[in-house]
Amino acid sequence: MLRRLIPALPRPTHLPSCRPVIYKPFLGSSTVPFSTTQPQFQPTSKTKHPKMASESNTNFKLENLFNVKGKGSKPPSYPTTKLTTNPTTVALITGGGSGIGLMATQALATNGAKVYITGRTEEKLTQVASLYSPNIPGEIIPLVSDITSKESISKLVSDLSSRESHLDILINNAGISSSTDDTSPNSAGELQKTLFDDATPFSEWEDVYRTNVMQLYFTTTAFLPLLQKAAERERGWSGTVLNITSISGIVKVSQHHFAYNASKAAAIHLTKMLAHEVAESGLRIRVNNIAPGVFPSEMTAGESDEAQKSSLAKSKYEGKVPADRPGKDEDMASAVLFAVTNQYLNGQTVVVDGGYVLRAGTV
Ligand SMILES: NC(=O)c1ccc[n+]([C@@H]2O[C@H](COP(=O)([O-])OP(=O)(O)OC[C@H]3O[C@@H](n4cnc5c(N)ncnc54)[C@H](OP(=O)(O)O)[C@@H]3O)[C@@H](O)[C@H]2O)c1
Repeated sequence: MLRRLIPALPRPTHLPSCRPVIYKPFLGSSTVPFSTTQPQFQPTSKTKHPKMASESNTNFKLENLFNVKGKGSKPPSYPTTKLTTNPTTVALITGGGSGIGLMATQALATNGAKVYITGRTEEKLTQVASLYSPNIPGEIIPLVSDITSKESISKLVSDLSSRESHLDILINNAGISSSTDDTSPNSAGELQKTLFDDATPFSEWEDVYRTNVMQLYFTTTAFLPLLQKAAERERGWSGTVLNITSISGIVKVSQHHFAYNASKAAAIHLTKMLAHEVAESGLRIRVNNIAPGVFPSEMTAGESDEAQKSSLAKSKYEGKVPADRPGKDEDMASAVLFAVTNQYLNGQTVVVDGGYVLRAGTV
């Protein structure tokens, strides 16, 4: 068909006469579950139909590709003064009161989702809700919670269940850093002193693991029924868990904080195991993680301003990462929207780091 439409071009004389190579990934295997025969393109009345083509184009619009508003058309069961009165996608973001959690919160809520944010400090959460929730299509709702015990996670599940029938998006973002250890000595004795005698104590390793690893496991498993309900409620949607891990769990350097980096590597592997086990159990819940590079937050900048935003000097990163700067709100927001909406992404690590891993290297 195509050959008839395109006028024959004279064959270039300087090229060898050879057949084009066609990539056939499954050819030759008798166990492949797909047919390897190439179907002939047959135009049908459907593909010719302009209405079908225009509907197909509509699917490619940003609001459909990155729809976090939900497709439900039921009226809201709660009083609302929002611009769009029907935000049906429900999200929960741990640590949503600052840094990366706040970036994820804004990414979802400004695009129509109803976002619950948790953390231990009530003032941070209420400040975020009062500043960023008015006049947007979605909503931001504070829920104070400490996610480092089974009891408080269970309470969070019952609090959310009393308000919502389902949970579309769970972002396990809460995390803490660990103290630094000096890796500079070149003698065994001195290295023993810095990395054993004066090292980050066992108790701190436990705290970091409790917040960065264990909570991620228990929060995810506690919310499975509500996440599965989200998948059963809307056709084409799978409940989604997004863990915020770190490039610290990927790079070979300790960055002087062994405990934190080991916890983030564990979080990345936990993501893969959970994705596998949940899928094997037949649930329609995807589990992925974003591994950020350096982003401004209370963890990296040490503070946030009255708008709960932090800042890092660009000059500190010039020449250190290929992007020559720390990450921006938009860098994180677009990654979050991609990871939560892409229904074909499962068990994966999305690295958003301005090239940090390229520079630091992996094992
Ligand atoms: N910023 C970066 O460059 C970077 C890079 C890679 C990965 N990350 C990861 O990104 C995530 C967010 O960190 P961030 O950098 O945005 O730092 P952040 O501003 O300190 O945010 C962490 C949030 O987690 C909350 N949190 C901590 N412990 C909690 C607990 N036990 N229960 C409930 N909430 C808790 C904190 O609020 P409360 O203290 O009020 O509870 C805080 O709002 C972390 O997992 C971090 O490891 C950050």
